[in-house]
Amino acid sequence: MARAVAGRSAEPIGLGMSSARVFRFKAKRGATLYLKVRRVSGAGPSLAAERDRLLWVAGRLPVPEVVAWADDHVCEFLLMSEVPGRPASDPIEPHDVRRLARAVGESLRRVHELPVAGCPFDARADAWIAEARRNVAAGTVDIDHWEREHPGRTPADVLDDAISALSRLAPPRREAFVHGDACLPNLLFVGLAGPDRPQWGAVDWGLAGAGDPMRDLALAAWSLTWNHGRGFEDDLFAAYGPEATAPGAAERRAWHLLLDELL
Ligand SMILES: Nc1ncnc2c1ncn2[C@@H]1O[C@H](COP(=O)(O)OP(=O)(O)OP(=O)(O)O)[C@@H](O)[C@H]1O
Ligand SMILES: [Mg+2]
Repeated sequence: MARAVAGRSAEPIGLGMSSARVFRFKAKRGATLYLKVRRVSGAGPSLAAERDRLLWVAGRLPVPEVVAWADDHVCEFLLMSEVPGRPASDPIEPHDVRRLARAVGESLRRVHELPVAGCPFDARADAWIAEARRNVAAGTVDIDHWEREHPGRTPADVLDDAISALSRLAPPRREAFVHGDACLPNLLFVGLAGPDRPQWGAVDWGLAGAGDPMRDLALAAWSLTWNHGRGFEDDLFAAYGPEATAPGAAERRAWHLLLDELL
């Protein structure tokens, strides 16, 4: 790994909320590389999980190539190639937001078109609930804005709400390969402002697996509003296709957002 980054200058990247740190290694000549470092004891998916998912989708979706991986029992290290482009969360001209929303919808449709048969990774509702349960038990749920969103409720109450709400939902219309954390910082685009179809790629695949495609749409639409303001969700859904607004889809998206409060 040290040999692979020799001669490159390291620059920390500020995006992201996980327990991982990311560094960009730029070379005067040669490709830029990204190093993700995570404490083994940290919250969230391991970098080994992210590595395995990257290897599974390699060549089928525009994802980073795994250059090297290491684990010294304190930290894990994942060295990757660069996905070109700017994160979709970066500020853009207001007249480009609609185009961005459509590009996000199209990119998620492409992710969900990947054949999911034989996918060894579980991103179904039960897996998210198990993770939420672990976070509630460990007291690691982020409750910074909790009082406004869930006045008088504890994380354990919200977990109970989510579990009972799930039993009232119609099951997902289909299972797909989902990204699992399809918020805008994880989606990168080249050429959003130009006349051509933007080129996309995605990073941060540690939560990907077979699951409900509405999870990705829920997080992407929420993140789109957070980063670029209200009024663009319909463009995202229209570009994705009719499944995004089919009966039951809105309820499933709302459920994923509720559970995500605990993830
Ligand atoms: N291989 C890559 N190519 C281009 N950009 C990358 C790459 N890996 C990471 N980045 C940039 O670094 C940011 C942070 O990386 P990443 O999303 O993997 O970690 P994280 O955000 O800390 O995790 P989380 O989203 O769970 O909080 C990304 O949003 C992206 O802008
Ligand atoms: Mg990220």
